[in-house]
Amino acid sequence: MKPQMRNLNLFLFLLLSLHFISVLSWKREEFRNCNQTPFCKRARARKPGSCSLLARHVIISDGDVTAKLLPKNHETSEDHHEINPLLLTLSLYQDGVLRLKIDEDPSLGPPKKRFEVPDVIVPEFSNNKLWLQRISTETIDGDTGPSSIVHLADGYEAVLRHDPFEVYVREKGSGNRVISLNSHGLFDFEPLTAKGEGEEWEESFRENTDTRPYGPQSISFDVSFYAADFVYGIPEHATSLALKPTRGPGVEYSEPYRLFNLDVFEYIHDSPFGIYGSIPFMISHGKSRGTSGFFWLNAAEMQIDVMGAGWDADSGISLPSEKTRIDTFWMSEAGIVDAFFFVGPGPKDVVRQYMSVTGMPAMPQLFATAYHQCRWNYRDEEDVEDVDSKFDEHNIPYDVLWLDIEHTDGKRYFTWDRMLFPHPEEMQRKLAAKGRHMVTIVDPHIKRDDSYNVHKEATKKGYYVKDASGNDFDGWCWSGSSSYPDMLNPEIRSWWADRFSFEHYVGSTPSLYIWNDMNEPSVFNGPELTMPRDALHYGDVEHRELHNAYGYYFHMATANGLVKRGEGKDRPFVLSRALFAGSQRHGAVWTGDNSAEWDHLRVSVPMVLTLGLTGLPFSGADVGGFFGNPEPELLVRWYQLGAYYPFFRAHAHHDTKRREPWLFGERNTELIRDAIHVRYTLIPYFYTLFREANTSGVPVVRPLWMEFPSEEATFSNDEAFMVGNSILVQGIYTERAKVASVYLPGRQSWYDLRTGTSYRGGMTHKLTVSEDTIPAFQRAGTIIPRKDRFRRSSTQMVNDPFTLVIALNSSQAAEGELYVDDGKSFEFEHGAYIHRRFVLSDGKLTSVNLAPASSGKSRFSSETVIERIILLGHTHSPKSALIEVTNQKVDIGLGPLWLQWGRGSAVVTVRKPGIRIADDWTIKFL
Ligand SMILES: *[C@@H]1O[C@H](CO)[C@@H](O)[C@H](O)[C@H]1NC(C)=O
Ligand SMILES: *[C@@H]1O[C@H](CO)[C@@H](O)[C@H](O)[C@H]1NC(C)=O
Repeated sequence: MKPQMRNLNLFLFLLLSLHFISVLSWKREEFRNCNQTPFCKRARARKPGSCSLLARHVIISDGDVTAKLLPKNHETSEDHHEINPLLLTLSLYQDGVLRLKIDEDPSLGPPKKRFEVPDVIVPEFSNNKLWLQRISTETIDGDTGPSSIVHLADGYEAVLRHDPFEVYVREKGSGNRVISLNSHGLFDFEPLTAKGEGEEWEESFRENTDTRPYGPQSISFDVSFYAADFVYGIPEHATSLALKPTRGPGVEYSEPYRLFNLDVFEYIHDSPFGIYGSIPFMISHGKSRGTSGFFWLNAAEMQIDVMGAGWDADSGISLPSEKTRIDTFWMSEAGIVDAFFFVGPGPKDVVRQYMSVTGMPAMPQLFATAYHQCRWNYRDEEDVEDVDSKFDEHNIPYDVLWLDIEHTDGKRYFTWDRMLFPHPEEMQRKLAAKGRHMVTIVDPHIKRDDSYNVHKEATKKGYYVKDASGNDFDGWCWSGSSSYPDMLNPEIRSWWADRFSFEHYVGSTPSLYIWNDMNEPSVFNGPELTMPRDALHYGDVEHRELHNAYGYYFHMATANGLVKRGEGKDRPFVLSRALFAGSQRHGAVWTGDNSAEWDHLRVSVPMVLTLGLTGLPFSGADVGGFFGNPEPELLVRWYQLGAYYPFFRAHAHHDTKRREPWLFGERNTELIRDAIHVRYTLIPYFYTLFREANTSGVPVVRPLWMEFPSEEATFSNDEAFMVGNSILVQGIYTERAKVASVYLPGRQSWYDLRTGTSYRGGMTHKLTVSEDTIPAFQRAGTIIPRKDRFRRSSTQMVNDPFTLVIALNSSQAAEGELYVDDGKSFEFEHGAYIHRRFVLSDGKLTSVNLAPASSGKSRFSSETVIERIILLGHTHSPKSALIEVTNQKVDIGLGPLWLQWGRGSAVVTVRKPGIRIADDWTIKFL
């Protein structure tokens, strides 16, 4: 057989087996469990108290606390003379952030420098460092030996106990602990060593062998959260918001939460199994103290156990606050300890503290916050044109049309299949004429084809990741035999970014944006469908050390490419499947290849909420479910929920039936249209929330407890969520649902978004559910900006007037914000934006400027006006309204809550006040 034929056969075989996998759903045996992962198995077998390390030579050096960690019997025993001490550093930062680093001492010549993940911690973080001057040493009650104590932040101290070594944060006066590390003595650090006689370092799983040239190098330790009712975070898993225990008597999960970026076909909806992304950041929350957080910056495979009550019943170790403590156990295959403790005490504080390390989320372009239409694949230009015009025909707005892998010439990214897409520029220009955009896919697997210029150049320049023997790594993916650019190298990232210039990406236009898929990276014939761990990156970094961040670097390089393409003027839009801590700076993410099942609809909520809590506000799940064919009812419910995802995109697998919104009969078309319309009316509110996320890190959609941190009833609720601080949404997750139980938190009322009907807070309501909508409510005391006119796309709504919906609380007051900028450029960073706070109190509505007075060199102005103001929850109906700037009186009447649907009870409405959003004004209700 000719070599090409062999390749072709292998490719066909792969295609068939892939198809097979996707039909049979998740193949557990394709992937390692903890027992099949030697470092995890070793770590989990350790007994509490087995760590015998002592902190010695505790001093202040360069403003940090440093110490050496030595085994207890090191000083006396002859046997341990070969053990080198570990170096421990404690650094303190503003806002109550404590950083702990533990690594081998480089001056003692370990065989290799262990990998520290670069480019995740933002450079500004170092400005927050507090230079320590003083350290106090005392023996804390209950201890036998001394501890070194430093002041951390208002009311908090960091403590390093010497024997056995333990690090924790405690409250000053009370001495109550907040977070601690190694309290159970489970800390273990495998130093790099030379291979001993007869020692076996290779590891095999299924047909793959990992040469492991550097041997065992894992790290594990226990972390305890005090005054904690639940722990959250550590995405990405398809599981509940409040993390279920994985160890101890009677736990539901037996595997730890795995953090290892993998391309998992048809992931199951309730599992600690790791999928496409990894953020090793955990948050604890409890009624009595509040919130705290722990982040371990490490990109190697990680496994994390959440211990159930009684896991350590016979360990003999006793710790404070037995009842409200949650113990966790962290294990990583390689790297160093670079861990951050966050004291909170509120949920929003912890998120801000975490983001001071990893960076604030990027501000998206306006269009990206609207509705996206995707499918694998829109076949050709005619198909694109047809789908596009049908949206108009059916009066359904949409902003972005997506092209999956089939649009390329043989999966060579940056190219077009010229048979199917002969005029890509013209196609994009036609969409752009309606204010619409296009997104094409660009994956990291580069087809090994000598006539493909990207491959030629990457080969010539030596830009590919190398295999263990130093040759360009060659793996199978969509493009057949493929290699992967080494995105760890800044020079290669810069080269990659240049691929997006209009000159290099022939057929691209300024309205084209990018989708990064398969960047875990996915390698069909690799171990667990990814790259072998002994593959080599820039600086001799092994893939095992970097794995979870590969997709992060790819996302970063692509986003930089779009910025470069626009000469730094336009904000990029790049959607990525793989993710890591800090991905929020590069763009949006989605929850990958889900299924058209009610359980997947249900789990999308905790998945999106968890991403938001761990810094990624811009996420969503494929509406309709990627695999399988949703029943029309499921599809409609998914649109109704998806309209509130921060990233709202419908997508479907290639083998599924077509499911554009108009294919399920008139009634379903109407329901889907309504759901999409709801999103479009709320775009001003969403965009304002994206700006809030951009400046404070607080996510766009939030768990209820983020807004109601002392209400226990909300702590494990992941069926409902908040959009900003003003809207509560409850999904409907079952077929033919007739009633829904909705818990409305707080003491204030809530107003049904659709009808204006008011409901009491602080109780569960049994509500009748209709097919029209899922339950959604506006919280009393808030003001929501809307745009109620329907257009073809968000871009076409830019100059449309606003509606303000004011829901008064029991003191007849309310507040809300509106943020507006050009929706596109970076000028807002120089002050070119409008940011208003609307305050209603004492019968007066005032618009207050939140933009800084001397707002930089650029300005943003807008003639846009407010066309309606709706009042809900007023005790006295005003008769007229006086606009104080113009001294003009306008009438108040009754009007529908929603003009276009004419639905809802008549509500008090100020019509045509004609005030500009850019101006200061006051309206007095008479
Ligand atoms: C907001 O977004 C912009 C653009 O993505 C980014 O440069 C900036 O760092 C973000 N954060 C803040 C605080 O502006
Ligand atoms: C009503 O809302 C205003 C504005 O948000 C707030 O300042 C006030 O505390 C609220 N009143 C009550 C009783 O919650």
